[in-house]
Amino acid sequence: MTAYSAVTREVVRDLERLLGAHNVAVDPEKLASYSRDEVGLQFWDREYRAEVLVFPESTGHVSAVLAYADSRRIPVTPRGAGTGLSGGAVPAFGGIVMAFDRMNRILDIDLENLTITAEPGVVTAEIQAAAARHGLEYVGDPCSGDASFIGGNVAENAGGNKVIKYGTTGANVLALEVVLPSGKVTWFGGKRRKDVTGLNLVHLIVGSEGILGVVTRVVLKLVPRQEKVVDLLVPFSTVEEAIALVPRVMREVKLIPSSLEFMDRNSLSIVSRYLGSRLPYQEAGAHLIIQLEGNDEEVLSDQYERVGDLCFENGALEVFVADNRNFRDQIWKTRKNIAEAIIVLYTKYAKEDLVVPTSKIPSLLESVSEACRRYSLEAVNYGHVGDGNIHVNLLVDESCEDWHEAIEGARRDLYLATRELGGTLSGEHGIGLKRKAYLGMFLDDTQLEIIRGIKRVFDPNLILNPGKIVDL
Ligand code: MLT
Ligand code: ZN
Repeated sequence: MTAYSAVTREVVRDLERLLGAHNVAVDPEKLASYSRDEVGLQFWDREYRAEVLVFPESTGHVSAVLAYADSRRIPVTPRGAGTGLSGGAVPAFGGIVMAFDRMNRILDIDLENLTITAEPGVVTAEIQAAAARHGLEYVGDPCSGDASFIGGNVAENAGGNKVIKYGTTGANVLALEVVLPSGKVTWFGGKRRKDVTGLNLVHLIVGSEGILGVVTRVVLKLVPRQEKVVDLLVPFSTVEEAIALVPRVMREVKLIPSSLEFMDRNSLSIVSRYLGSRLPYQEAGAHLIIQLEGNDEEVLSDQYERVGDLCFENGALEVFVADNRNFRDQIWKTRKNIAEAIIVLYTKYAKEDLVVPTSKIPSLLESVSEACRRYSLEAVNYGHVGDGNIHVNLLVDESCEDWHEAIEGARRDLYLATRELGGTLSGEHGIGLKRKAYLGMFLDDTQLEIIRGIKRVFDPNLILNPGKIVDL
């Protein structure tokens, strides 16, 4: 365990000298709001609080702060928009929170090489919009994309709604400018589609949750924008029928949908309370959203008809074709607001991010029901069914006093079941602080030692986002 230095008045003055006083803050309200993410304060057994906030405006600023903090052994926690779901941006040891709100420029859209280069504080949706203005698409599409920063997406290797076809954030990152804890600035990767020159350090940084280096520039891949998009909304009586459809679409219609999302009955009930609107067949056991895209109207309609026929063969109660903006917006607003609905309507919950082989999803959901019976919980299950990634949300009755125990018991049981099914702990939200205690259930000692060794190589003084993923 490292002993860290406190942030004294002198440290604050030094930071003001490095960044300008307007880029340093210590007022308590700001410190509090920049010390949490979407896990929710009630989840933690103690309060985590930054001692000072810095808002770098450039790579030079980031480098100066890190070099200073490294020499003084002050912890630094990098932070995007605070939409994370693992406590990754929570300052576990106090110290400096480095917020990227002011490094928010799109630096370059390269139409020759089909790339976009951005600073880490650019909102994901702005990257999508900038690409769209050029007839291109940035395919990263996390549900929090209207708020999340691209730097946070990279740090957590965010997934989202288009992974089934286009892969996670990492699959779309070509290069990163990274500042190491020593303050040294380096580039990994480049505007090239192939690279086996040395080790793949780009993808070591992607998903490393800000424990190895601070990303200050991101070069992302763009793809041609498909002109036509259709979403099918398909209610089923049972979850099993819905899940069984997933491989059939790919095998029998021979296409990979751009999205294949799942919402159970409880998801729709909660989000409809929150939004005050309903989707058709709201009481059905499960709904799928199947998104298809293409450039040829006829080909696309042939495809969705074939998918629709398969849905009926699999027991669909109806197949709604959303080929107009309003209906599509309604479907996606519903899907993207489930997480927020839970956060707003409940105070005692755990949002999980389990992944299993797709065929094992019904068994996973069976284990969820068992755990709920055992610990008197309710579950809301939804997510990226095409990736086998289910967001299991465990909800506790507001009157329950010992809710942490119930939640921890259920989490442990579910993790065991997930492991049995060949699954893993997190698909896209990360380990951070929230899942660290359980990482050893999924990685063996050799693997954990490799992670610790890599951490020490990048960050020998252990100042960068300490307390996350592994303890040292
Ligand atoms: C989602 O898919 O809605 C996001 O990952 C957020 C969440 O599940 O809590
Ligand atoms: Zn998700």
